[in-house]
Amino acid sequence: MKINGQHYRTIWLDNDDPRIVKIIDQRRLPHTLVVEELRTVEDCCRAIKEMHVRGAGLIGATAAFAMYSAALAAPAADCDRFLRQAATSLQATRPTASNLAWAVNRQLATLLPLDSLTAKQEAAKITAQTIADEDAAACRQIGEHGLPLIAAISRRKGGLPVNILTHCNAGWLAFVDYGSATAPIYAAHQAGIPVHVWVDETRPWLQGARLTAWELAGEAVPHTLITDNAGGHLMQHGQVDLVLVGTDRTTRRGDVANKIGTYLKALAASDNSVPFYVALPSSTFDWQIADGVNEIPIEYRSGDEVKFLAGIDSDGIERELLLAPPLCPAVNPGFDVTPARLISGLISERGIMKADESDILRLYPEQQSV
Ligand code: MRU
Repeated sequence: MKINGQHYRTIWLDNDDPRIVKIIDQRRLPHTLVVEELRTVEDCCRAIKEMHVRGAGLIGATAAFAMYSAALAAPAADCDRFLRQAATSLQATRPTASNLAWAVNRQLATLLPLDSLTAKQEAAKITAQTIADEDAAACRQIGEHGLPLIAAISRRKGGLPVNILTHCNAGWLAFVDYGSATAPIYAAHQAGIPVHVWVDETRPWLQGARLTAWELAGEAVPHTLITDNAGGHLMQHGQVDLVLVGTDRTTRRGDVANKIGTYLKALAASDNSVPFYVALPSSTFDWQIADGVNEIPIEYRSGDEVKFLAGIDSDGIERELLLAPPLCPAVNPGFDVTPARLISGLISERGIMKADESDILRLYPEQQSV
């Protein structure tokens, strides 16, 4: 997608020195565009853990490029042990999104059988770039599959703007390009269908306010920022036609982990008969588990993210403010699980399916016997 008219992906290799991985430091958005260089596995682990990069697809792609950095740094004598250690460090950074472990395991499965270190380095680079390209392609296809949903609502409304509520940032910043939940929105906007997006601010890290609002503005998609608590009220008053969110891990029967607060949106949508769709590339499925509430590991982050708020003051200076009594305890689960029964459908690059095992397996027959 574009920043100030220039096309960017969220992660790429430096043109002059392809051993360097480049990312946009998302902690500094929307106020400052900082491109950061990652040179080592440790740099990549820090960037994932401290949310320079975030979002299921992008942390998967970053982990894939981190394995390439690991291959470049590996000693020839003991390279497989070095690669396995890098994989373990990467997998420990953030536990909820499937894409991270999926990307690391794909790299290991490609690299370990190869004989020479040079072959492993070359293959690690190609695999990382393939994972990034596939992520962008999957998101573009999600847009194509989701577009008819929005088009149908638009027709029903006689061409009035389709009001779509989204939570967190499942946009191009959360992937390599296009985004998952935003892809159908961008596709509709480009097709000339009037859309308007309600952007949940997404406490405590404010991915909605800081990232989704910035992204949508960059593509000139009409949008309005709301507090996380406003969605239910808007749904009761007929101001939401569709809820469209992303996911960090989706079980084989269609339970969905996504940013904390998603479950409450799904409950409100169900109570108000508002369709609730979840967009995901196939790499976000966890085929090993069925029961999301009890089996998906939920990341707990520092309570300081709840107690402090970062932003710029009226002089444009970045500041952090303490919101609560200094010693107030705070707990910060990063994700919650929306049970399949509250989900109208899942949109992946293979098409739209119901959130139930048999319909998911209709599109993924190769996962029947896992
Ligand atoms: O903590 P984050 O910002 O990595 O969480 C991101 C989300 O919850 C997104 O909605 C999610 O990754 C789905 S879309 C990639």
